[in-house]
Amino acid sequence: MDYLKIIGRKNLNGTVKISGAKNAALPLLTATILAKNEVNISNLPNVVDIRTLLKLLGMLGASYDHNDTDISIDTSSLDKTTATYDIVKTMRASILVLGPLLTRFGHCEVSLPGGCAIGQRPVDLHLKALEIMGANIEIKNGYIIATAKDGLKGATIVFDKVTVTGTENIVMAAALAHGTSTLINCAKEPEVVQLCEVLRDAGVSIDGIGTNTLIIEGTKGELLEFKPFEIIPDRIEAGTYLCIGAITNSILKIEAVIPEHLEAVLAKFEQMGYMILKEKNAITICPANKISPVNIVTTEYPGFPTDMQAQFMALATMADGISIIDEKLFENRFMHVSELVRMGADIKLNGTVATIKGTPKQLLGTDVMATDLRASSALVIAGLVAKNETTIHRIYHLDRGYDRLEEKLTLIGANIKRGKE
Ligand code: UD1
Repeated sequence: MDYLKIIGRKNLNGTVKISGAKNAALPLLTATILAKNEVNISNLPNVVDIRTLLKLLGMLGASYDHNDTDISIDTSSLDKTTATYDIVKTMRASILVLGPLLTRFGHCEVSLPGGCAIGQRPVDLHLKALEIMGANIEIKNGYIIATAKDGLKGATIVFDKVTVTGTENIVMAAALAHGTSTLINCAKEPEVVQLCEVLRDAGVSIDGIGTNTLIIEGTKGELLEFKPFEIIPDRIEAGTYLCIGAITNSILKIEAVIPEHLEAVLAKFEQMGYMILKEKNAITICPANKISPVNIVTTEYPGFPTDMQAQFMALATMADGISIIDEKLFENRFMHVSELVRMGADIKLNGTVATIKGTPKQLLGTDVMATDLRASSALVIAGLVAKNETTIHRIYHLDRGYDRLEEKLTLIGANIKRGKE
């Protein structure tokens, strides 16, 4: 297994180019199941989750030509409809094949994803919505067995909770359905918006893009003609590098970003005393005279993202005072707390609320364990400011979602090396 060794407290500066968004690329790749033509996609991030999904699409019978950030994918040869446990267990987002497979073929079997490090994460809302659209759903031997012999029917669906992949699955299902679907209480994340825009450009009538109500006119089973498109920038990777600039008190510029996607995150940096300079596709963070503590409540977009919670917790350990972070979306997303505490942080947990007593320069390097994707990036952030050496074990989580992390960090002056154990 790989580990990362970081020697902290180096001065960083320069520019980081942000990659395409993993969470936009995943649903967009599964959306190609709805295509009648070969689809050309650019700005794919070079991360393990994308390769895992491509492996799954390949197992289903798709063929593709993948070259780092670009792909041509042809799903016309797709002839299998089972997403097996061995692949779904490595990546929950594999559930995103459910809607497209069912709406195209009228049946599919997808392994139930089960829980994960950050909580239970059920898919009941995806299944309930498909049932309302006329699907018959059975759970057998750990698999979701879905059938809709004459195709899915358009319906009105009210999501009990805002769910990102749930919205995406049902948008894709509705795209080929018979009749009009009205989806209420949808997620509005930029990744959901891009999926809707790409489907609209491929010929599906979708109203309300970017709002929480989507009205989708299904094509009655007719496959779509996709235009080439480029994946939007990864706002979470961008926010992570801004945290790196912030914690090391460096002037750091990130480019190839959409600043509007990061408003809630940028507001928190400003509250903590950092100066943020926005350009059309770039953001620069400048050092704070004093790092002020911050209060954060994670919520759906456009609120503060749960995917940035761990990184801000690392940053809050260096603030001058007490910060409070309330994790509203995932009940168990605090795996990084015990590791940050091992590095000398003072963090108390009470249910979903973490209280972080910050003091400048308190972190000390040691051995820590990565437990999920964003928790791992919090440990990298902490390691970059900690005294001496930090070794982060089990970094396969980081490789799932951060494109060329060591390369990008080395370019801005970090001392970070990968090793094998
Ligand atoms: C997506 C993102 C993930 C991010 C999360 C929240 C992808 C691939 N992943 O995950 O990075 O952290 O959004 O922004 O885009 N829920 C249910 N039943 C369901 C579905 C969800 O109860 O059927 C609950 C979840 O347990 C959670 C909340 O709804 O408490 C939101 O989860 P959801 O938006 O579905 O997260 P994901 O789409 O899995």
